Amino acid sequence: SDTAKTTNERLLSICQLLETHIDHYNWVGFYFADSDKKELHLGPYVGEPTDHSVIPFGKGICGQVAVSNQNFVVPDVAAQDNYIACSITVKAEIVVPIFVDGKNIGQIDIDSNTPDPFTEADERFLEFVCAHVATILS
Ligand code: SME
Repeated sequence: SDTAKTTNERLLSICQLLETHIDHYNWVGFYFADSDKKELHLGPYVGEPTDHSVIPFGKGICGQVAVSNQNFVVPDVAAQDNYIACSITVKAEIVVPIFVDGKNIGQIDIDSNTPDPFTEADERFLEFVCAHVATILS
């Protein structure tokens, strides 16, 4: 039954729903912070496998969100100098942090193959998703 799902199964289901139903979401995954090591570690995801399962705080879009605690919307990844490319098909990215008890414990990371696809509606929606994820994790 659904209540028997593990946390990672629930997170994977969220990735699958988002990637399947939203056309401009082409890679959807979670990274979680190891605050002692100052690294992000890849969690459940849907899309092409990535070499970047560990990302130091500060590196790339994801690593910057680990320290800024702010949403990061990238309309054109080619215009970013602190960017980690996972796939040449990716044109844009959005990363939204997940807060548990006010602490930035990780993030949802979405890549798009469409240029400049993300609006404030995506930010508000993904903040809602991340608030739900926080309840799964706590
Ligand atoms: N592009 C990200 C790295 C993660 S991949 O998108 C899955 C970044 O610059 O942090």
